[in-house]
Amino acid sequence: MVSGSSGNTVDSVRPNRPPQHPRYLWMDGEVVPWEQATVHASTLGWSTMGAVFEGIKAYWNDAEGELYGWQFAEHYARFAMSMRLQRMRPQFTPEQLVEASCELLRANECRGDTYVRPLAWHADATWFGHLEDSRTGIVITTAPFTSILGTGKAIRACVSSWTRVGDNQLSPRVKCISNYQNSRMALLEATLDGYDQPILLNSQGKVTEGPASCVFIVRDGMAITPSLTSGVLESITRTAILRLCREELGVPTQEREIDRTELYVADEVFYCGTGAEVTPVASVDHYSIGNGGVGPITERLERLFHQVVRGRYPGYAFWRTPIYAGRRDRRYDAAIPVTV
Ligand SMILES: Cc1ncc(COP(=O)(O)O)c(C=O)c1O
Repeated sequence: MVSGSSGNTVDSVRPNRPPQHPRYLWMDGEVVPWEQATVHASTLGWSTMGAVFEGIKAYWNDAEGELYGWQFAEHYARFAMSMRLQRMRPQFTPEQLVEASCELLRANECRGDTYVRPLAWHADATWFGHLEDSRTGIVITTAPFTSILGTGKAIRACVSSWTRVGDNQLSPRVKCISNYQNSRMALLEATLDGYDQPILLNSQGKVTEGPASCVFIVRDGMAITPSLTSGVLESITRTAILRLCREELGVPTQEREIDRTELYVADEVFYCGTGAEVTPVASVDHYSIGNGGVGPITERLERLFHQVVRGRYPGYAFWRTPIYAGRRDRRYDAAIPVTV
């Protein structure tokens, strides 16, 4: 059975079987049926130690019947940077991977908000050292997601007891799977303690980011976020938000160190990122932020961001890749039967 508002997910003919998956994924240069994308068990663990990934989104525009890839070029440029840091041999250019993602979205007939997730790994790894000669495996998958944009929900945050990894340890600058053990511990602790999300400090006690998102505060009408040398991912959404604040909202911005207590006295706090989109924060460590709802600048920004990503705003078309735009890849028209 084929179902789902976003993507041609293949459901099981067996009832009550929870996992759904798309019909196709892209692997090492080809769109392949889901079942054929396998790796050898001997590479498990070792290959993922240095594996790098991206989280990318495509937003559905119902009025236009179009799916817009959001900042695909920027994400694949960072993917290349992550691979370089891991000394992986690039087998595809960022431009080829952008094209691959578009083709995969069309192959899966994604007509709803969709995540695109590329992953690269040392395909011959059976140990952690001497991997420069290894082949690089690359897989791209798609999955539907539900956007929080427009929901008006503000979340409860805390400062984590876990310190953010530093650039000279596991550099947070790039998206390496291993870095996310640090994020994971912080997120687990926060949610077990009843919060929605943590904020991590660096070894100097300055604010860095969330486990998978950036942090902004607003003080006296200024949108402030930690600088890129504070121990944060070189976030793509962060750059877009800084630009939208300045160019569209007339909100001045600053990239600088942020003290922990500035979180508590800020007028507004929000997370942003591909996954987080723009997520307003209602409280940090039980200090209510503003009136405990969505702050006025956050609200304007969130509304604008929503319009831009969905292609409902005339500007910033260079950040969007129309996936269909009248194009069809004829070879996927006759759907390959998929057995699960
Ligand atoms: C640790 C971390 N920081 C920040 C972000 C936001 O980055 P981007 O805007 O590129 O999605 C992410 C996103 O995945 C992340 O994992």
